[in-house]
Amino acid sequence: MVDRIKSGITGLDPLVSGGFVKNTITSIYGSPGAGKSIFCTEFLRQGLLEGEKVFYFSLEQNLESFLRAAEALGFNEFKQNVGTNFIFTKMSGHDFKNFLSIDMPKILEGRKGKHSRVVIDPLTPFLWEIRDPALQRSILGDTFAMLHEFGTGLVTIERYGDINKLELSEDIAIPLYLSDSVILMSMAFNQNFYQKAISVIKIRFSSHSSGMHPFDITEKGIQIFQDQPVF
Ligand SMILES: Nc1ncnc2c1ncn2[C@@H]1O[C@H](COP(=O)(O)OP(=O)(O)OP(=O)(O)O)[C@@H](O)[C@H]1O
Ligand SMILES: [Mg+2]
Repeated sequence: MVDRIKSGITGLDPLVSGGFVKNTITSIYGSPGAGKSIFCTEFLRQGLLEGEKVFYFSLEQNLESFLRAAEALGFNEFKQNVGTNFIFTKMSGHDFKNFLSIDMPKILEGRKGKHSRVVIDPLTPFLWEIRDPALQRSILGDTFAMLHEFGTGLVTIERYGDINKLELSEDIAIPLYLSDSVILMSMAFNQNFYQKAISVIKIRFSSHSSGMHPFDITEKGIQIFQDQPVF
């Protein structure tokens, strides 16, 4: 039996045998605007609702814009827990290698909760900065090992290319291999509209849905329609 935690995303847990496996790392691999950051926000909110410590390492947003986006979804828990159970860090757009190897461990050090959730949104700039596969693997391997020990992690990876094809290109092979779980957030084009869809690509230590599940983002966040076909 593995220990599971609630993902916090409406409709996701039944697709992943009841929730994320504790102390694993999930990569959210998704198209621009697919809802990766909202996914991360809901994952962390669930932690706050359960009294956990949660950490958001963001490249794009500062704390103010993050709180504004969370409030737009009706989530007030972040504001109430800033600096206590909610630790927000804006990452710099360069020198990611040092950020992952030096800064992030320092921020996490001594701050472990009864259970902790950690998000890196997005991880992609690191993959652009460190092109050498051996170095990429070594640094990410260390980072993921540290996160495994610390809590349950979520990283986002931006996806480009044909939205109707699952292209696992070589540039993202290492993080996807090192992740315990991979979830794809895509948009399928149907005549004249884009339907958002979520698929579980892999989950170590667990069975999972092999379907492509449509979802919408509403003012309440992500809603996955488990039993409906994409079109
Ligand atoms: N309050 C809201 N109500 C309804 N839909 C929303 C709301 N906020 C965001 N969205 C939808 O979510 C999308 C953006 O979500 P999010 O920022 O999580 O995507 P992302 O995958 O992180 O994007 P990026 O590639 O820019 O990082 C918007 O394009 C919109 O469709
Ligand atoms: Mg985003």
